[in-house]
Amino acid sequence: MKTLSIFTTLLAVSAAKKCVVRNPTDSAKTNDVKAPVTDDIPSDNETPVNVDENTPLDKEEDSGIENSDIENSEDKPKGKLPADFKWGAATAAYQVEGAWNTEGRGESVWDHFTHLYPMNVESSDRSNEDSTNGNVACDSYHKFDQDIAMMKIMKANHYRFSISWPRLFPEGQAKKVKGKWNVNKEGVEYYDMVIDTLLENNITPMATLYHWDFHTLSMKSMVVGRLPFTRRFAKYAEFCFEHFGDRVKNWITTNEPWVNCVSGYRLGPGKAPYRCTGEAPRKLANDTAGLDLLGGCSYEIGPSQYTKNHEALTANRPPQRLEDVWCSHNILIAHAKAVNVYRKKFQKKQKGLIGITIDGEAQIPWQDDKTTPEELENNKKYANLAAEFRIGWYSDPPMIGDYPESVKQRMSKDMPVFTDEEKALLKGSSSDFLGWNTYTAHWAEQVKNEDGTYVQPPTDEEANFENSKRDMWDDNCRGRGEGWTCIPPTLGSQAGSSWNTKFAPTIRVGLNWFSKRYEGLIKNGIVITENGCAQPNYKVARANDEVTKKYFESIGQPKYADTYKEEDIEREDNLEGTLMHDTYRIDWYDQYLKNLRLAYAVDNIDVRGYMAWSLLDNFEWENGYETRFGMTYIDFYNDKEMKRVPKDSLEHLGQWYLENVEQN
Ligand code: GAL
Repeated sequence: MKTLSIFTTLLAVSAAKKCVVRNPTDSAKTNDVKAPVTDDIPSDNETPVNVDENTPLDKEEDSGIENSDIENSEDKPKGKLPADFKWGAATAAYQVEGAWNTEGRGESVWDHFTHLYPMNVESSDRSNEDSTNGNVACDSYHKFDQDIAMMKIMKANHYRFSISWPRLFPEGQAKKVKGKWNVNKEGVEYYDMVIDTLLENNITPMATLYHWDFHTLSMKSMVVGRLPFTRRFAKYAEFCFEHFGDRVKNWITTNEPWVNCVSGYRLGPGKAPYRCTGEAPRKLANDTAGLDLLGGCSYEIGPSQYTKNHEALTANRPPQRLEDVWCSHNILIAHAKAVNVYRKKFQKKQKGLIGITIDGEAQIPWQDDKTTPEELENNKKYANLAAEFRIGWYSDPPMIGDYPESVKQRMSKDMPVFTDEEKALLKGSSSDFLGWNTYTAHWAEQVKNEDGTYVQPPTDEEANFENSKRDMWDDNCRGRGEGWTCIPPTLGSQAGSSWNTKFAPTIRVGLNWFSKRYEGLIKNGIVITENGCAQPNYKVARANDEVTKKYFESIGQPKYADTYKEEDIEREDNLEGTLMHDTYRIDWYDQYLKNLRLAYAVDNIDVRGYMAWSLLDNFEWENGYETRFGMTYIDFYNDKEMKRVPKDSLEHLGQWYLENVEQN
């Protein structure tokens, strides 16, 4: 067994999403791959994606996707997307609104975190106090009319935004007494304005109730006792349905519980509420991104419940090493309770749809010229297993009412258990539609020991959190060198965030995975609720490219190993360059959207929408304003007016829409 501990592995998995920084001098060690493996490429008229009819809910199976399928279906899109395809862009309240303490808004965990730990947020201008928080952000609170103008350029017919809980309920707890809510009037007026302005502009609102900015009041109850948080959330949701539901017909309860909990509780340094579940306070190694992370975690939000060894003192509280697991559990229950309120009290009359948005990378079975057919089969099995851990953990409960068997079995007693009542509430709670945020992909295989034998899955006796994934993810990143924390390793060319790589087939592979797993269970299809990238920049090293190239060459698909040229690299000081003329981002959208169309037109996947992340450059969490995901440029540090300037990609997407979606 390789020496890196499973524990480190798990942390690294968490890090993969948002916090990974790496050493630019790490050079990719090559993987000795040679001849392309092309034998099994089907002919042009075969169905390119191999979807098995069996529903693999309770057994380990492969993902059903042939690597060769990706290539072979390349030129086959037929039929445009339908006229009612949901098309638009996404943002989140804390990332764009600003006005953090105006007109009665209360404090969210993100205010709390950024104000307490400004050094945990990247900034190139620390003399600017707002550069490390969302105090001002894009000031969409005052400039929403300009945001609408940007949506128009991309021909958006939907806009995904989120509602800030503390803006509506500054005290945290929503209450209705004698028919009157204790709500902040100004907050309500703001969202009324947003919704009405959207509708006046023929843009359908898609509202997320919770995008990581919960009220500080819920910081403890999020993990230590499930009831306060889940009840509070359902009450807050009830107000939103009651007041906005006459106009909002697309509700997303929560955004990406995995990132929220794993980054916020397990990883600590980069995301609120800055817990370090299971790990000693630490500074990230190889910090090239300019973060100067403070050691320590925010134990002040509840240290007294822990002993020195971070074990829980009282019963009924999860041990600190499992806070992220419990946070996830509670968010899922909170989601189900909110859906229940909507279904019981509002849906019939308001006729809207409600679902959850989860994230998660599609898992691609590893293959190179040394991979035997048996190994490939095994890697496919592992791709499904890894997907159950990375995605199914969050998507199974709202679809089928419980965690995947593999997760329960391998986590054993470390896995919280849903009560029968919770299971019943959860089951089908995202059957109206499933929201999926997709960015990158991971390689999947069974990990090998130094001597070439396979690392074995944990036995029943060994099963627990720490052992649960030990045979699933290779901890040496396919030879990318020391100093990486990238497990499971990502695949594709390096975009402008350490965790984000361009591997467009991921969207198609993932859509097929969901579709097969939940066949017949999703009534209004899957909606891509986020997808996008930051242009490559100098803050993130590109050590991924060489290995990716070898991988794709080995399976006869060299064109997927695309990379970028020096001139694609974004430079803050060059407005004439790729900051505004964002060619890499345009190519990203082209490739992902092509794969989405293939999934729709060739694989018959019921995909109903696509929201690009993001409409605007905005507060990119621990990366502050230094990492730009927007299709609209804002000069955060120098322009007091925060003028919105469309980048090339915004217009490009408008054109894509006209050409690829049926026009009425
Ligand atoms: C998602 C998140 C967004 C945005 C995006 C790009 O995980 O929901 O808020 O930050 O990633 O990093």
